[in-house]
Amino acid sequence: MRVLGIETSCDETGVALYDTEAGLLSHLLHSQVEMHARYGGVVPELASRDHIERLVPLIETVVARAGLGLPDIDAIAYTQGPGLAGALLVGASVANALAYALGKPVIGVHHLEGHLLSPLLATPAPAFPFVALLVSGGHTQFYDVRGVGDYRLLGDTLDDAAGEAFDKTAKLLGLAYPGGPALAKLAEQGRDGVVTLPRPMLDAPSLDMSFSGLKTAVRVLTQRLANEDRLDDAARADIAREFESAVVDVLAAKSLAALAASGHSTLVVAGGVGANLRLRERLVRVVEARGGRVYFPAIAFCTDNGAMIALAGALRLAHARQAGAAFDVRPRWELASG
Ligand code: KG4
Ligand code: ZN
Repeated sequence: MRVLGIETSCDETGVALYDTEAGLLSHLLHSQVEMHARYGGVVPELASRDHIERLVPLIETVVARAGLGLPDIDAIAYTQGPGLAGALLVGASVANALAYALGKPVIGVHHLEGHLLSPLLATPAPAFPFVALLVSGGHTQFYDVRGVGDYRLLGDTLDDAAGEAFDKTAKLLGLAYPGGPALAKLAEQGRDGVVTLPRPMLDAPSLDMSFSGLKTAVRVLTQRLANEDRLDDAARADIAREFESAVVDVLAAKSLAALAASGHSTLVVAGGVGANLRLRERLVRVVEARGGRVYFPAIAFCTDNGAMIALAGALRLAHARQAGAAFDVRPRWELASG
């Protein structure tokens, strides 16, 4: 079965064609980062308009690159939520119109389920059950994943998500939007142990996390150094380094605790922050030291993309959960709600 995947929840138009037997046939992504950069963040109305312009040509190219035509598509999956309502509606409308025209099934996918199942795109793919660490711009969560559609929330962030903390801290350090990757790059030049930042909730028994205090600590520190005229490039790099270390320390410790609590030995990491190289290295080291295994999606499939939506749609369709003829979007939507 060939499933077309459409992702338009935020600032990236992602399209992919996934074959349940042959795997990923082709995929394309258009990022709106440059368009939003001058505003310092995503402007929802601009995002929707850009998705409208990009989506249909991207679908045509993805299908053509697979050497196929639209009638060769067996089903269409799109991100139904959560995300920006206008942006979601573009993907939902195009997916449903195309499905209607082709007479093929269409399915709305939870964006986080797409992230959560994205490591299954890789070879070798992890087997169920596993613990999933979902670290995106809006979420930092642990799930006990026993199968497709069977997700139990084990831990959550109480305030900012790790990605959000990366982005806000990057802004404090004068880095351009989107800050996460830029902060990680700056951290490469930073020195360990020059400044000290807190590791929020590191020793707390719960699997919940909190990152807003860490960001506040960076604000206080940068203001103090700026007042003393000491916030130079080297100081910024040292702060970036320590910030990244603090996030990695917390996520690594909580990952081990989540594995212990669930009794599983496999950790799957998904979402944009999963592209962070120091996080990847640390998780592999600490989980393998305990006899477990860690799976990541390829870097390109850590951040938003159409392939994860096509895959999640294919797996959902295989489990016979289909949408009816009417469609809607769900800008706010908890994954564990079923
Ligand atoms: O999953 P994603 O693409 O979008 C959401 O669904 O939220 O995640 C985006 C987040 C942003 O906060 C971005 O700064 C962060 O992932 N991110 C990174 C890196 N690459 C992306 N954070 C740290 N290090 C990276 N290399
Ligand atoms: Zn995402």
